[in-house]
Amino acid sequence: MGRGWVSPVEEGAPDGAQEPLRSIKILGTGVGLPPKVLTNKDLERMVDTTDDWITERTGIKARRIAADDVSTSDLCAEAVANACADAGIEPAEIDTLIVGTSTADTLFPSTACWTQKKLGIRGMPAFDVSAGCSGFVYGLEIASSLVAGGSAKRVAVVGGEVMSRVVNWKDRRTCVLFGDGAGAAIVGPGQGDSGMLASNWGADGNLAAILYQPAGGTQRPATHETVDELAHTVHMEGATVFKHAVVAMSQAAKSAMKDAGITPQDVSLLIPHQANRRIMTVARERMGLPEDKLYSVLHKYGNMSAATIPVALHEARKEGRVPDGSIVVLTAFGTGFTWGASILRW
Ligand code: ACO
Repeated sequence: MGRGWVSPVEEGAPDGAQEPLRSIKILGTGVGLPPKVLTNKDLERMVDTTDDWITERTGIKARRIAADDVSTSDLCAEAVANACADAGIEPAEIDTLIVGTSTADTLFPSTACWTQKKLGIRGMPAFDVSAGCSGFVYGLEIASSLVAGGSAKRVAVVGGEVMSRVVNWKDRRTCVLFGDGAGAAIVGPGQGDSGMLASNWGADGNLAAILYQPAGGTQRPATHETVDELAHTVHMEGATVFKHAVVAMSQAAKSAMKDAGITPQDVSLLIPHQANRRIMTVARERMGLPEDKLYSVLHKYGNMSAATIPVALHEARKEGRVPDGSIVVLTAFGTGFTWGASILRW
């Protein structure tokens, strides 16, 4: 399996020997999406922006916004329940629960534990993965290792966020980008040829302050000043994120494809992290994939951070875009910086 380090700024994927696939299968998928839709037109009335600017620069037309009494674990619990129904199992049959999120319910305990409570289940290990927008791919990597190693049989991997609660609604450079939602997958032992053909994940914490929430943790605990400064909201150097996201997502995917021994022609569908249409397009081009292989739900939901990939995967499946035997490339990039790619044969 390709686990080599891929610099977000260096060209050239590391060499990796092809090894046998991790025999896993995604047994079911599901989503939890709040019903309230916030369109670009709505945003025109809130900040100095236009539908045209947002559409042209990002590809986003609308996003979902959670109600005031809904937290990340509510969306995660809904997504897991739906994924379990899709897989034909009860939530109590899950043997590990992994939640990828940057918008945790509380600093402690984990959103995964709150999700357990809301599902009415107990006993199985439950923990969060803090890898920003790469959270689902990180979770999938851990899940597939647990399943392939024989220590788990039904792992629920969730990406869930309530980004609307950490966005500065007066900052037009960021508030137009994000949305709320959750997506889940149940990972179990593979059958036949299905599995994780290869993967690649990494991080570079030296770039942590390019995209972060400055206050609320131990570095800068909450005070009246941090609240007045809006230091509990997303702070981002957008252009720097853009540049690194393109390089890291394409390099991680290319490295994993090389380790899997596949070419762009073998790929059925590319599901990248959905942050910006232009990021996805440039990354796709660098991978040598045609436009019709890129699957996107960005226009409907905006950037839901860790939730974008599982939500898109679920919708692609429901549209019949992921038939048995097809090869799906997932690739993500997020705060940290973190990145990861998975090559799955369905
Ligand atoms: N409406 C109207 N004008 C705007 C808006 C807006 N919502 N936002 C910024 N502008 C203005 C800026 O003020 C600037 O005006 P100026 O030239 O008078 O100063 C102008 O538009 C251009 O701004 P840029 O920041 O250069 O615009 P750019 O083309 O880089 O697009 C964007 C900005 C969309 C944030 C882009 O940099 C981007 O997508 N970066 C990636 C960030 C991202 O996706 N982050 C998500 C989290 S990380 C992740 O998910 C991987």
